[in-house]
Amino acid sequence: MGFNVKGLSKDEIRQKLQQFRRNDVKWREGRVWTYVYHAGDDVEEVAKMAYNEYLTENGIDVTAFPSLKDMENEVIGMCRELLRGDAQVCGSITSGGTESLLLAAKTARDYARAHKPHITQPEIILAETIHSSFFKAAHYFGLKPVVVPARADHKVHAADIAKYITEQTVLITASFPSYAYAVPDPIAEIGQLAQEKNILFHVDGCIGAFIGALNRLNGMEQPDFDFSVPGVTSISMDLHKYGYTPKGASVILYRNEEIRKFQYFVCNEWTGYTVVNPTMLSSKSGGPIAAAWAVMRYLGLERYRAMADETMRAVDALKEGIKKISGLELIGSEQCSLICFRPTNANVYDLVDELREKNWVVNLQFAHRDVPPNIHLTVTYQHIHRVHEFLNDLEVALKAVSKRVLPKLMDMAKLKTGKALAGTLDANTFAQLAPLLGIKDGQLPDRMAVINELLNDLPKEVTKELLLKFMSDLYKAE
Ligand SMILES: Cc1ncc(COP(=O)(O)O)c(C=O)c1O
Repeated sequence: MGFNVKGLSKDEIRQKLQQFRRNDVKWREGRVWTYVYHAGDDVEEVAKMAYNEYLTENGIDVTAFPSLKDMENEVIGMCRELLRGDAQVCGSITSGGTESLLLAAKTARDYARAHKPHITQPEIILAETIHSSFFKAAHYFGLKPVVVPARADHKVHAADIAKYITEQTVLITASFPSYAYAVPDPIAEIGQLAQEKNILFHVDGCIGAFIGALNRLNGMEQPDFDFSVPGVTSISMDLHKYGYTPKGASVILYRNEEIRKFQYFVCNEWTGYTVVNPTMLSSKSGGPIAAAWAVMRYLGLERYRAMADETMRAVDALKEGIKKISGLELIGSEQCSLICFRPTNANVYDLVDELREKNWVVNLQFAHRDVPPNIHLTVTYQHIHRVHEFLNDLEVALKAVSKRVLPKLMDMAKLKTGKALAGTLDANTFAQLAPLLGIKDGQLPDRMAVINELLNDLPKEVTKELLLKFMSDLYKAE
């Protein structure tokens, strides 16, 4: 399409944005159980106000915009309090959970380079249920990923981790809780092991730490996962999740500056201005930092605690409701505000489609080892009044799925052909597969069951190729 020579008017731009948005999920109705965290219109207003104020300010240079550093220091102070860190605990705001985890891994690698020069091929211990960003970190930073299997309780135990530690290990990772199954790893046990072995230990609390800390303050029984646990050397916690701040804000906190120092990057070898980056980006909008500061100060601890309390009541009601529906089974779902479940006698892919038809968006998770494919819900404050409606629709959807006999036979035929085609993966495969699966001009069909089942059943390498090809086709300049 290229440039328009004359600029559009403000109104035209607004209209175009509405048009762009027409196929997006309608999250404002509280029917999307993933991706979105919305604490209410007043909070959104405060966030927008602060974001707009700082839209153009640049976090690249602390001498030019010291206000961003001041706000960041206050945010880190609040987070340190939540995570029971002492005065030595320090940290940074990052652009999101992924950046926090990438930095945890890079920091550990560089810390090891300084303190353990014998390490030639740094290894990172990944609890099997750890977030994908640590696999990305290994990929980006030349770390060898060492995956420790979870037990039947979906936890990765210290005794198992101990067997995988070598002279090359630079970091142990575990979650509070895991995204997929909502189960915390035994942080205290692992912390003890990390201390004994003198290895850094990162707790991924991106999704769970904020609400977990509030739950502790609300008196809920739960295992310790924060800086009160000896051996924990860093924790990530996303503000743009249960802190309800706009996207682009997470924190990574370290036990002390001696560790954090290895996160920083200084470059005075090039021809331009001297670069001192605490985190990955150089130029970065002040928007997410200012908005995070504003939302946290606006909500205050009292309102956050009340919101966490109401959210956890909704979580309990949902879990109870799911347990009562015959033909559904909870998986894990032990901690915080995440729920994982699956239909025991019906096709999970059809169930996801059926829910989608009722305008509910849930997260489908593919099978992993002996855990069958399942559904994940991230329950937030936005959902507290949606519980009964969702449970009713879930029950109805489950019944409808069980009755889809004829369409299911057709799906199975497509699946068989799809698998045969994907078995001979070459340049033409995708061109043949796409129409069979109902993909037209990069647009996915309303019902995704066949595609999802195919992606689940094919070998992981084949699935990866298909997804890369699909993604590549989607992003074409117009
Ligand atoms: C446990 C955990 N870690 C890390 C991340 C990555 O966070 P982000 O999507 O903000 O990069 C997520 C996201 O859901 C998460 O649940």
